[in-house]
Amino acid sequence: PRPKSGTAPGGGVRDGTRAAIAAAHLRTDRWWLAPAATAAGLLAFVVYSTWRAFANADYYQAPYVSPFYSPCLADNCAPMRSGPNWEIFGNWWGLSPALLILIFPLGFRLTCYYYRKAYYRGFWASPPACAVAEPHKKYSGETRFPLILQNIHRYFFYAAVPVAVILTYDTVLAFRDEHHAWGHMGLGTLVFLVNIALIWAYTLSCHSCRHIVGGKLKHFSKHPVRYRVWQWVGRLNARHMQLAWASLVSVALADFYVYLLASGAFDDPRLF
Ligand code: FES
Repeated sequence: PRPKSGTAPGGGVRDGTRAAIAAAHLRTDRWWLAPAATAAGLLAFVVYSTWRAFANADYYQAPYVSPFYSPCLADNCAPMRSGPNWEIFGNWWGLSPALLILIFPLGFRLTCYYYRKAYYRGFWASPPACAVAEPHKKYSGETRFPLILQNIHRYFFYAAVPVAVILTYDTVLAFRDEHHAWGHMGLGTLVFLVNIALIWAYTLSCHSCRHIVGGKLKHFSKHPVRYRVWQWVGRLNARHMQLAWASLVSVALADFYVYLLASGAFDDPRLF
């Protein structure tokens, strides 16, 4: 367990309450590889998603709408698409409509238990790796502003579920052709299917979800259905890190696929 903030003079890991070892750490493996790769992967996604979110273009090519731009909450994307359009923000919103909706999935990921570990290690070296001391003098955990806000993760989970439902709806619409006739299946339909499966697996594997379905129960034997669901979620939860990465890549690829179609770089191969 990590020391509570302020429990020892000076705080941090070199406060005199730890074993007096002169070496910075005793690890001889390439411990820096995982945080460096994590930081590079997250940075690549941040750069890509920022570009696409602000682009406000090339996000719809019938029957596919980019997951970055769904649902549409402003007026300025309405003529472009056939998916869910709720123009709550009307026509005064002049920026990219993606900015209105991305706050929810991004907030969900930003406060996710796994991503917290990932970026605390990758970007802040707090700590850089197991058994490698962090360079910071003080450690206050997530007990103070702004990191105490990480506690709102469960509310982002509540927001992430309807977003996943809407992306599921978009995936169903991907079985129509550009004239809205059902029975179409293109390569994009497959891309969307894989993406939505990974989005759901990631969302349901959330630690908050696990607590919601199985937490605060005294006797599992009295709640057999919740117990069964908790077991399913627990199995997914054990793969939360892998699902976090897989769904991050898949959502970027689904968006990039729509970008290629909408920008005319590529034609969606029709499978049947
Ligand atoms: Fe990762 Fe909830 S803990 S999404």
